[in-house]
Amino acid sequence: MQRGSGHLSVIDLHSHIVPAVDDGAGTYSEATEIISRMRDELGADSTVVFTPHYSCSMDRRVFDARQRRSNQFQDRMEEEYSPGLNFLTAGELMIRGSSLKYMEGTRYPGTGWVLVEFETGVSWIETLIQLGRLIKRGYSPLLAHPERYRWCRRKRDRLIKLSRMGCGSMVSARSLRFEKYAATARNLLGDGLSHVLCSDAHSPRDLILDGRLKRKLEKFSTVPWQLLTCEMPEMILNDNKLPELPLLKRRKSQ
Ligand SMILES: [Fe+2]
Repeated sequence: MQRGSGHLSVIDLHSHIVPAVDDGAGTYSEATEIISRMRDELGADSTVVFTPHYSCSMDRRVFDARQRRSNQFQDRMEEEYSPGLNFLTAGELMIRGSSLKYMEGTRYPGTGWVLVEFETGVSWIETLIQLGRLIKRGYSPLLAHPERYRWCRRKRDRLIKLSRMGCGSMVSARSLRFEKYAATARNLLGDGLSHVLCSDAHSPRDLILDGRLKRKLEKFSTVPWQLLTCEMPEMILNDNKLPELPLLKRRKSQ
C-alpha cells in the first residue's frame, strides 16, 4: 500500500526499541530517535510492534517488570506519535529447555502467533522438536532470524518443512548489516523462504522498513516488498495461517 505522501505503509513485527529493557535502545532519546525516523520515513498507517527479549527460564519478577515498562512505553509513544504510527506490544521469546512459560504473555495481541528464537548453535532436530511442541499446544511459532541458525545456513529449504508444519519464517533487516548473516538473509529473501521482513531494530544505526531498504531488497529478490512487509504481517496480526514456503512459484536449487 502506498500513501499519497509516497511513503510506504508497513507492519514491522519485530523491534527492540523499548529503552533499557534488553540489548536494544539504551536510553529514551535513542528510542525516540528510532521512532521519529520511522514516523518521518514510513506511511501514516504503519504499525510498529515492540518485542523485547524474554526467556522461558527468566524470573517472573523480571518478566513482569519488562512487560510493564513495555506497556508504559507503548502508551507514551501513542500519546506522542499517534496519529502517525500505530504501536503494539508483544515479545521475542528465547526457547531453551522444556519450559513453555510466558508464551501467553509474549504472543502478538489477540493471536496464537508467538515470535520465538533459539541459541544460534541449536540443532535442526532440537528446533523441530521444540517448534512441534509449541504447535501441539495450539501456538503458531514465528521463527525470528532463521538466517542466524547453523542448520538453516547449511540447508535453507528446511524452512519449507517448518512452513508445512505451520511455522512462520521472518528475516531481520538487521542481519543484512552483519557479514556472518547477510548472505543467508539475502538468499532466504531471494528464494522466497521468508514470509516476513522485519527491522529487528536495536539502535538508530539499524535499517528500518523504508524506501531505501525496499530498493536494496529489489536488487536481490523478486518477492514483492508489500507481501513481506505488509500483507504477511497483517495475516499474522489477524491470526491467519501463512502459506507454505517458498513464496515464489519457481524453486531454486541450493
Ligand atoms: Fe530480536
